[in-house]
Amino acid sequence: MSNIVLIGPMGSGKSTVGAALARRLGRPHVDSDHFFVARYGPIPDYFTTHGEKDFREREHRVVAELLDSPRPSVISLGGGAVMDERTRALLGEQMVIMLDITEEQAALRIGDGTTRPVLGDEPMEAWKRIYAEREGIYRACADMVLPADDESIETRVDTIVARL
Ligand code: S3P
Repeated sequence: MSNIVLIGPMGSGKSTVGAALARRLGRPHVDSDHFFVARYGPIPDYFTTHGEKDFREREHRVVAELLDSPRPSVISLGGGAVMDERTRALLGEQMVIMLDITEEQAALRIGDGTTRPVLGDEPMEAWKRIYAEREGIYRACADMVLPADDESIETRVDTIVARL
């Protein structure tokens, strides 16, 4: 049985929905950002010290390690992880779900963007630009796309489980 992997833009709820979905399915939940932080420290600090290129390389290795999990898990990926083609190749064997959100929802969720260094000083401008760059890639990787919606986390989980 493959892992269930959640992808999508920053603020789309990959971590919260992933945790709730894992609880529902009785599977372990892992989050690539949390795993990265536990191993290498806060992401903004890592960007400052080592730069984005180094972050992306380590992120790929973390994701590859998590996808190789001995138990089928629910795995939430950082929003930029799918930009690595080696990571995309690994996703071919997994059940991949894209969580989508609108700009309005993103604006409510990402705040001042301080925990996400790729958003810089103008978080919503950056979010929109990055979303435009990545949307097609998210969709191409996904076996299931959950459209932007204001439903609760548990309702999102219901929707996913019904479509698995
Ligand atoms: C990033 C998204 C973040 C985190 C890092 C870079 C991105 O994860 O991996 O700050 O490039 O989209 P979330 O999508 O969980 O915010």
